[in-house]
Amino acid sequence: MGAPRSSCAFASLFFCLLSGAIAQRVKVLDEVTGYLGQEVTLPCTFVSMGTEIKVSQVTWMKEAAGRKQNVAVFHPDHKPSYPLETERGRIRFRTQTLEDATLIIGPLRMADEGTYACEFAAYPSGNENGITNLVVLAKPTNTAEAQEVKASNLELPVAVCTSASGKPPARITWQSGLKGNATVSEVTNADGTVTVTSYYRMVPTKEANGQHITCIVEHKTQPQPEALPVVLSILYPPEVTIEGYDDNWYLSRNEAMLKCTAKGNPLPTEFTWSTANGPLPKTVEVQGDKLLVRNVDASVNTTFRCQATNRVGQVSTDQVIFVRDKPNLEGAGTTGGIIGGLIAAIVAVAVVATGILICRQQQKNRMDREDDDQEGPPAYKPPPPCQLSDETEPEAPRYHELPTLEEREAAADAGPSMEDEYLDQINPIYDALSFAATEEEAAMSTDKAFIMSRAMYV
Ligand SMILES: *[C@@H]1O[C@H](CO)[C@@H](O)[C@H](O)[C@H]1NC(C)=O
Ligand SMILES: *[C@@H]1O[C@H](CO)[C@@H](O)[C@H](O)[C@H]1NC(C)=O
Repeated sequence: MGAPRSSCAFASLFFCLLSGAIAQRVKVLDEVTGYLGQEVTLPCTFVSMGTEIKVSQVTWMKEAAGRKQNVAVFHPDHKPSYPLETERGRIRFRTQTLEDATLIIGPLRMADEGTYACEFAAYPSGNENGITNLVVLAKPTNTAEAQEVKASNLELPVAVCTSASGKPPARITWQSGLKGNATVSEVTNADGTVTVTSYYRMVPTKEANGQHITCIVEHKTQPQPEALPVVLSILYPPEVTIEGYDDNWYLSRNEAMLKCTAKGNPLPTEFTWSTANGPLPKTVEVQGDKLLVRNVDASVNTTFRCQATNRVGQVSTDQVIFVRDKPNLEGAGTTGGIIGGLIAAIVAVAVVATGILICRQQQKNRMDREDDDQEGPPAYKPPPPCQLSDETEPEAPRYHELPTLEEREAAADAGPSMEDEYLDQINPIYDALSFAATEEEAAMSTDKAFIMSRAMYV
């Protein structure tokens, strides 16, 4: 077969038809791609260019294993003939003319793939032909799933990804943050397609349970790689804990409860309660994962056992109960709360008291400065108002001069001022703080008579 093969690409078909016209009167495509099960068109025309060439017959031949077999023949005096075909209409000429021998094949089979020659019997030039390569592709069906395995320290397949019935074979890779690797195998099916299977293998730890990995399938028929997510399922026996014991079960306490919780894959849903010595005391009530004690008595002074079951195993855990004669007051629970509250209150009071002290210190500093500025004998000026106390205390300043005995008696008769009440409430912290503060003041000030602590005053 010395016929020149045109070197046209798909995209430049038109240009090719023109440029090849001089040398080649049979116009075909170099390569045609079809899809399994679909229809494909193999173009073929004879361009006589107005010369006196006469075409008498058209023949399509397929080359297989070095032999040519006639696939389709057309002679104007007869019906078209398709010598290889048993299924009517699967192969056919598009038109029945001697100029256009375009062939349609469909539904395509894998076996249709091969090299085809379109040949015109012409006079006086003799036979002329064009060669077309038919490529048949098959779009694979891609799936991925987890392989349920028991946790172990041996490497096992934990996921499988399959790209079935593809042509050419698909490329399978995995995206994973886990320490595993893949093993790939290919099987050629009866129809010529290929099924590719990739196993993701790793040491199945229980930590890997629920982890996500992704299978990536790349194939010529897919514009994008296909991503198939997989959630791993590593089976492991229950991990059981008992919650709810507060170390404060005492005789005649109402409403105590234990709760059994269990992790595991599959998640354990079946719980069995017992005691270390055997059956449960009569006074307890079981509600699934909960053990209720309506009234604590000596019979629950024992070790409770919860057993959780799943498909992989049965695991139990114990909780020792100590029944007291009296409530446990040193327990962390309630007394802890009280202590916490006390600390919070003390801190709050300290903050308020410090505020008052700072305010007073500022008042005093201002006063001292005014005294220094003035010539002559220092005339007493009441301090500028201090917001916390001033409105309740319109008369003489009480903390800056020692009151006379009469004043103190009068004050006592009048009853404690609001400020006194307030300060009494926050005793003893106020006293402690003011005492410390006034010692400092005393050290700074030269006019010691001015200063008096709350402690002295009371
Ligand atoms: C998986 O990879 C590890 C190292 O990453 C290697 O030692 C091991 O042989 C590999 N297993 C398989 C089945 O290729
Ligand atoms: C519970 O048992 C302990 C010994 O295991 C015992 O000391 C305690 O008195 C018992 N409590 C009651 C209420 O019987």
